[in-house]
Amino acid sequence: MAATLWSGITPASSARGPGLVAQRQSASFFGSDEAATDVWAYGSVPGPVLKVKQGERLRIPVTNNLPQPTTVHWHGLRIRNAMDGVPFLTQAPIGPGETYTYDFHARDAGTFWYHPHVNSAEQVGRGLSGALVVEEAEPIPVDRDLVWLLDDWRLRKDGSIAPFGGMHDAAHAGRLGNVATINGLADETFPVRSGERIRLRLVNAANARIFGLAFGNLNPWRVAVDGHPVVPTPVGPDLVVVPPGGRTDLIVDMTGKPGEKTEIRDLYYQRFAYTLAIPSYADETPVRKDRLGPPRPLAANPHHQPDIANAERHEMVFEGGAMGGLREAKYKGQTLGLRELAGMGMVWAVNGRVIPPMEEGNVGDPMLTMKQGRTYVLTWRNESAFDHPIHLHGHSFSVIARNSKALETPMVMDTVLIRPKQSVAVAFVADNVGDWALHCHVLEHAAAGMMGYVRVE
Ligand code: C2O
Ligand code: CU
Repeated sequence: MAATLWSGITPASSARGPGLVAQRQSASFFGSDEAATDVWAYGSVPGPVLKVKQGERLRIPVTNNLPQPTTVHWHGLRIRNAMDGVPFLTQAPIGPGETYTYDFHARDAGTFWYHPHVNSAEQVGRGLSGALVVEEAEPIPVDRDLVWLLDDWRLRKDGSIAPFGGMHDAAHAGRLGNVATINGLADETFPVRSGERIRLRLVNAANARIFGLAFGNLNPWRVAVDGHPVVPTPVGPDLVVVPPGGRTDLIVDMTGKPGEKTEIRDLYYQRFAYTLAIPSYADETPVRKDRLGPPRPLAANPHHQPDIANAERHEMVFEGGAMGGLREAKYKGQTLGLRELAGMGMVWAVNGRVIPPMEEGNVGDPMLTMKQGRTYVLTWRNESAFDHPIHLHGHSFSVIARNSKALETPMVMDTVLIRPKQSVAVAFVADNVGDWALHCHVLEHAAAGMMGYVRVE
């Protein structure tokens, strides 16, 4: 596998320009000289980087020129429920030929992204995704500010996208592809200049692939996760793990010499390690001679502090899939064996219940009803044999414990990776009224029983 970088950031005007058009088109992952692939995209793969300043309003008409209904979800943005893009739960799907205008304020600064929430495994998997950057009032000074929208594709020999569906992906790790791309290109070359400081905004738009990046001796600083600032800390020898849906902002100081090359490797699936990017230093005088000091921390986003001592606590247990030991679960009021469930394409359960897909006029019951303003601590336990990145809409949460062990510095996120047989506890103030999707961001898992919603009233 291979991958590259090209894109910088589209100027702010694009956010309010002609809007987004979801359409069939073609894309070339390997450069123009090779066969193009039919994709679904917002004009390009990935879609344009939408960029606004914190507090600004976005008004984005979305036109659907796809052969099926769609919506757009603004992943990680805390906006009003009606703008959240979840079909049947927060809006009617946008039919083919129709336009729907999203309109909201970007209250939090950071790196976010957008993607459809209808038939997501196929629509995201065919190329519908893009980054949304909300600029801080005082960003960290850098020489270049780059988005790397990471994705993977399952391509057939003729370059076309392999068909979607099938129980195997759903019951295992989801649809892992065979070509990884950075901003839609499978070319590792990443031209850099010696001495430059880069802000690298990693967005994982893959259906299922978890990226675990090794930066070698570049030793970047992690400055934000899921858009929310963390105390700048060098990543050291650890992998920078970005699960589907997740984002990580790094400050990378390019400390090599002119003419040198280095490698950024993806080592998450050890047997399938590959080189994602090859930073290649230009033969030019360094931008600066000395290594810069630590970046200063970014200002926190405006969150309500959870009142953990008085929190209401709930547990959600995620079970099912292959090798998970789940024998039966409730589905539409009946208790069914895993085999019967698999026959209906449903293999994941939350608290013993397989959540049916939402339909017009029937979105099922909320998994939990919360009171506005109250703090909740949810313990999410993964009792299965696979990874699950769990995402909550409309809120950000603090991860306060892993495997029952309290974390010294809770981290604010919206998508948290829970490994097999592990648990996390998250705390947040239920401050955004509405019905908010809560699901696994392995899109094949979400479609097979791992997508429900919680209500704040
Ligand atoms: Cu990025 Cu409900 O999803
Ligand atoms: Cu999952």
